[in-house]
Amino acid sequence: MGPEDYPEGPRLGKAPSLARTRMDRVLEPEVMADPRQALAYARADFGEVNQRFVDELVSRHPMPAHARVVDLGCGPADIPIRLAAAWPHARIVAIDASAAMLALGERR
Ligand SMILES: C[S@@+](CC[C@H](N)C(=O)[O-])C[C@H]1O[C@@H](n2cnc3c(N)ncnc32)[C@H](O)[C@@H]1O
Repeated sequence: MGPEDYPEGPRLGKAPSLARTRMDRVLEPEVMADPRQALAYARADFGEVNQRFVDELVSRHPMPAHARVVDLGCGPADIPIRLAAAWPHARIVAIDASAAMLALGERR
């Protein structure tokens, strides 16, 4: 089974692994600078999908113990924090153009 099996993208109900799901990448059109927008995003529950992403990343890309990772557009830092738990010896740099997002991430 490969991307050719999902020509129209993910199908509801089949729950294929992320590694086998074709996803169209869409560039984030905006910096989420408004503190209210950043807070609303931080309060949304992306925990399950974020953890699934981290689990797949870790299982598919074994990293050297002291790897360096950069998360561009980290938002409130849920993913880099989960990544740090999975790779405790990695150096992870989380970057975002939104000061409000970075402030929320620092509180975690
Ligand atoms: C939809 S959020 C995703 C946040 C995080 N990656 C996640 O998955 O939870 C997109 C983030 O990208 C940031 N962003 C958008 N354009 C950016 C740019 N040009 N430079 C840095 N950050 C940017 C936004 O401020 C926002 O925090």
